[in-house]
Amino acid sequence: MNTSLSDKITHRTAQVAVIGLGYVGLPLALAFAKAEFPTVGLEISEEKVAILNSGHSYIEDVKDEELIPYLQSGRLRVTTDYDIVRACDAIFICVPTPYTIQRTPDLSFIVSATEGIAPRLQPQQLIVLQSTTYPGTTTEIVQPILERESGLKAGRDFYLAFSPERIDPGNPQWSAYNTPKVVGGLTYEATTVAAALLRQMGAPVYEVSSPAAAEMTKLLENTFRSVNIALVNEMAQLAERMSIDIWEVVDAAKTKPFGFMPFHPGPGVGGHCIPIDPYYLLWKAREYDFYTRFIELAAETNEAMPYHVVELVAQGLSSLGKPLHSARVLVLGVAFKPDISDARNSPAERIIELLLRRGAEVHYHDPFVPTFRVGGNVFHSEQIMLTSVALTDDVLAETDVVVIVTGHHNVDYCKLLTQTALVVDSCNVTKKLIGTAQILRLGAPLP
Ligand SMILES: NC(=O)c1ccc[n+]([C@@H]2O[C@H](COP(=O)([O-])OP(=O)(O)OC[C@H]3O[C@@H](n4cnc5c(N)ncnc54)[C@H](O)[C@@H]3O)[C@@H](O)[C@H]2O)c1
Repeated sequence: MNTSLSDKITHRTAQVAVIGLGYVGLPLALAFAKAEFPTVGLEISEEKVAILNSGHSYIEDVKDEELIPYLQSGRLRVTTDYDIVRACDAIFICVPTPYTIQRTPDLSFIVSATEGIAPRLQPQQLIVLQSTTYPGTTTEIVQPILERESGLKAGRDFYLAFSPERIDPGNPQWSAYNTPKVVGGLTYEATTVAAALLRQMGAPVYEVSSPAAAEMTKLLENTFRSVNIALVNEMAQLAERMSIDIWEVVDAAKTKPFGFMPFHPGPGVGGHCIPIDPYYLLWKAREYDFYTRFIELAAETNEAMPYHVVELVAQGLSSLGKPLHSARVLVLGVAFKPDISDARNSPAERIIELLLRRGAEVHYHDPFVPTFRVGGNVFHSEQIMLTSVALTDDVLAETDVVVIVTGHHNVDYCKLLTQTALVVDSCNVTKKLIGTAQILRLGAPLP
């Protein structure tokens, strides 16, 4: 390992830059600052930088009071100026990796961040890609841009590594400080130096032999979740037909102390990982004349769940003599998981689009998401912006059916069950609650 960088890491004087201050980058930048490294956050959005510099956080897992002391002391600085990377020793790239409408990888953010670093790259710097992506991105996309623009050579003049981010927003137990990290460098030295830096944050670090192994590790983790969620989603639909409660079955199965891990059905998958990452892998697999049918089947099964939820809505309404095309529907929860404000790729979007296409009047309530954009993606529909309505007696009185998509904990579900005629519950939050509403629980015997 390069002694000067190694010494700086040991003495916590290495200057760290984190590029992209979102759900991943902001907690990471704060974690480095807390670990006493002089840290700089580099963000393209001037609005986000202004919010942070005014002492506020836009990420639930980062509290204002946590951030302020580090901003005030200058241990953490935030900027839009790429020139800052010249003075840094280690640079982490945490920018988005979405997919296109045809589900192919969109690496434009990785490319633009790398192009921002390349002309400013200095000898002995460490570059670590953290964005989730397909195996090969670090060496096939990032490395050539860095080398071409800088005239420096990875492995000889600078260190290059991939370390996947495993953060789980809203998880009170596992954070950037205790979740083990995986890292794979282009060379043994790059792995060692990156691992040494990551270890200074406190969490264990597991070293693998290459960036591609680290990239694949992240995709295995997320594909594992996608496949298991798909399996239980399929079993949930079977359970409905067989009048068995899948939630009860999963609870029973998880009493087995080995060989089983519980996954729960739901209205679909959302967020920045599970709906997207499997597509990165299956796209790349085709380059090797390989078709990941299993992974695609899982994605297809999960993406069919919003359609199933809408069928449950239509079925419930029809049993009350109401057609879906003239119903007033209230969607409860549009965040992709409980108790957070992140609504990216939420299954609520497809559910609302499908309900609108079938003629329903749709409103939504989400205590964490004040506005929600729907459409403009599939179906070539027009984009509309919805605003969360309050859960008042009047709103509930005018609602024909409530569809629970996200089971936030700060919602009065008992009130729903007494003030509406019909509830479709896709996340089992009404189990054991008593009320007058007819309830259709996904994966449970239907009335
Ligand atoms: N959110 C999660 O739970 C999670 C978990 C693990 C891994 N990941 C992965 O981490 C990566 C980042 O995800 P995220 O959720 O933090 O995304 P995000 O959208 O919340 O944040 C990314 C930030 O990068 C900024 N940005 C974009 N291009 C930039 C550029 N060229 N220079 C500087 N800043 C730029 C954006 O403005 C944004 O603030 C993705 O690859 C994602 O798949 C996310």
